[in-house]
Amino acid sequence: MSGSTPGSPIWHPFTQHAIFPEMRRIAAGQGAWLTAADGARIFDAISSWWVVTHGHCHPRIIAAIRDQAERLDQVIFAGYTHEPAERFTEKLLEILPGDLTRAFFSDSGSTAVEVALKMALGFWRHAGDGRSGVVVMENGYHGDTVGTMSAGERGVFSQPYEPLMFGVHRLPFPRPGQEQATLDALERHCATGRMAAFLVEPLVLGAGGMLMYPPALLAEMAAICARHRVLLIADEVMTGWGRTGTFLACEQAGVVPDILCLSKGITGGSLPLAVTVCKEPVYEAHWSEDRARTFFHSSSYTANPIACAAAAANLDIWRDEPVLERVAAVGDMQAEGARRLSGAAGLSGVRRQGTILACEIEGRGAGYMSALGPDLLRFFADRDLLIRPLGSTVYLMPPYCSTGDELARCHDAIIEAADAFG
Ligand SMILES: Cc1ncc(COP(=O)(O)O)c(C=O)c1O
Repeated sequence: MSGSTPGSPIWHPFTQHAIFPEMRRIAAGQGAWLTAADGARIFDAISSWWVVTHGHCHPRIIAAIRDQAERLDQVIFAGYTHEPAERFTEKLLEILPGDLTRAFFSDSGSTAVEVALKMALGFWRHAGDGRSGVVVMENGYHGDTVGTMSAGERGVFSQPYEPLMFGVHRLPFPRPGQEQATLDALERHCATGRMAAFLVEPLVLGAGGMLMYPPALLAEMAAICARHRVLLIADEVMTGWGRTGTFLACEQAGVVPDILCLSKGITGGSLPLAVTVCKEPVYEAHWSEDRARTFFHSSSYTANPIACAAAAANLDIWRDEPVLERVAAVGDMQAEGARRLSGAAGLSGVRRQGTILACEIEGRGAGYMSALGPDLLRFFADRDLLIRPLGSTVYLMPPYCSTGDELARCHDAIIEAADAFG
């Protein structure tokens, strides 16, 4: 092997270094803005991969991190506990529906989903039922670990790893007019009696292309699961923490999942943390004098105290500040953007759910591997906008402190991009 490939020793995620050799160095973040090392100010229109909710460096979250770092930085979470994890869990369970009772910590969205799948299979195993099938939705995305890749849409990103992956049962995405086919497929799979769980992103399939479906459909899918005793796993890693207009997307459908996955906005976007919350029967199935029924999952930094303190401060912000009003205001600004984009040439499929606005730039092929992708990335970067299209799908998912002027600038740039490339 040659040792002559150029570039930095750092290998960046989802980055083809041969096409994008230069990484923009970021020195600071405040509110909805990043400051580059060269002094340029960049508007963070995708909340740094959907994690930043209130804005970068919210003072209460930063103070909580600073304070906790001086007391206890890290401690093993097996056999030990700590105040920030207990405080966060108590506050979280207060705002979640009452039948979600047990919280298991991990470090990322992917691990939150892995934990949920293991909880579901553990539940059925310990209940003495051999169910192990997993139903998912076409175009879903649940992470990049092997288990979550197995559950997500397969494509160019997963092809080399196919030999490692397990099979799942896929429902067609409920495009308008085709909802019944999705419901029928779910009914069919569930009726076999072999399905352990249905794993789904509520209302918005994020990385799969910001595909949206209505709350009534989520409610119908939940009812089918309940009828067949198939556990409903809601992957709210992206949709949680206000993104879709409510604290959880499930709320809009009046649905309480059996297992709920949260990450991303859990610390307001400051530190990595995740929690998988389940209903009592899932926990009870593992509760035993028999050590073989232990929930065998951990990672070294599970429930890191500093991350938990940041998460607790985030919940204080949700309690004390008008977060949902800000979410609604951003939703209104995006609705105005949707109206403008709908009339623009070269754009199609304009859609919005809460703070998320998405559309397609027509012209050079659809999908994630559209030839447009790299050009669009550069186009927005050249305008100091952090907008990272999913191929030909352009979307905005801004922090909740964004203003009308800032978002109008993004809407203008999308219209300009459609004009340039559409
Ligand atoms: C719905 C959903 N689930 C899981 C994940 C994986 O989260 P992470 O990247 O933190 O592992 C993501 C990430 O985008 C996501 O959108």
